[in-house]
Amino acid sequence: MLILGIETSCDETAAAVIRDDGLVLSDVVHTQIGLHAPYGGIVPELASRDHMKNVRPVIEQALRQANLSLNDIGGIAVTCRPGLSGALLVGIQIAKGLAFSRRLPVVGVDHLMGHLMAAYLRYATTEDRQPCWPYVALIASGGHTALYRVDGPDPKDVRELGATRDDAAGEAFDKVAKLLGLGYPGGPIIDRLAAEGDPTQVALSRPMPGKHSFEFSFSGLKTNVMRYVTEHGLPSEAASLRHLCAAFQTRVVETLVRKSTLAARSERVKTVVVGGGVAANSQLRATLQSACQRYGLELFTPAPRACTDNAAMIAYAGAYRLVSGQSDAASLVMSPHTVLDSVTRKGPGRRSRPA
Ligand code: KG4
Ligand code: ZN
Repeated sequence: MLILGIETSCDETAAAVIRDDGLVLSDVVHTQIGLHAPYGGIVPELASRDHMKNVRPVIEQALRQANLSLNDIGGIAVTCRPGLSGALLVGIQIAKGLAFSRRLPVVGVDHLMGHLMAAYLRYATTEDRQPCWPYVALIASGGHTALYRVDGPDPKDVRELGATRDDAAGEAFDKVAKLLGLGYPGGPIIDRLAAEGDPTQVALSRPMPGKHSFEFSFSGLKTNVMRYVTEHGLPSEAASLRHLCAAFQTRVVETLVRKSTLAARSERVKTVVVGGGVAANSQLRATLQSACQRYGLELFTPAPRACTDNAAMIAYAGAYRLVSGQSDAASLVMSPHTVLDSVTRKGPGRRSRPA
């Protein structure tokens, strides 16, 4: 089956066509970064309007890129949660409209399930390995950071082992970049600068160093960087800026890697899967690869473009329901919340579990 994926949950309008085995035939992403930049954050109303303007052309481009027409499509998958309400509605309405007019099945997909499934996508240039259940998955994006045990393709098969109590990992990258006057999104900029820095030149605290907790907290590390800047001023030389970026990134990466491999060992699984924008980080990819090798774990990392928001991952996350003949049709509704299991209590304070 060929599946059209549509994603409009935040600040990217995306459409993609994939085959149900994960082969990506086209993958179009229109980003709104420039639109929101003057406001220093995403303006929901502007996001919805821009999605409305671009969603049709982006879908048409995805079909054109795949050399296909809507007649070739067997089903539609669209992000229906979590995200900005107005933005999600744009994707859902066009998906419903297309499905109704073409008599196609349509399924709603949880955006986080998309990130989780991105490791199954096959691009012409990537290898053919795909992860097998059960595995431990790290999802680290701009709005979400959590470790899950995954036993199957349904959201009911996904159990949270621990999530962030405050900032998501990507949010920490974005806030630190903003603090250093580097622009948005901060992740790719810090990634580039850190590659040429020496992390040992700046001493920053380790976030949540507790041995047995799979919960995260990145807001203390961000405050640590802020305090460093207050004491020393903004780095005036290129080299000191790179050292600071390297020190910050190393702390984030160490934490993500240590907890992911610990979770896999404690769940007695042999496979680790990563996803979300932060999974595009070069240091995270390299460090996780060597840590997994050390512990005899097999690592699945999506291609960098499949880590950040895209519609191919949404299409794949909807594929197994579409292939088994399911359709949400009229029952397809929007929600700002994820369906995934969530156990971590947000905010500061002591927890009963050791941290
Ligand atoms: O998954 P995503 O595209 O959107 C959400 O669902 O949130 O993730 C975006 C986040 C941003 O915070 C961005 O700074 C971060 O992913 N990001 C990175 C890198 N590329 C994107 N963080 C670290 N290193 C990168 N190379
Ligand atoms: Zn995302």
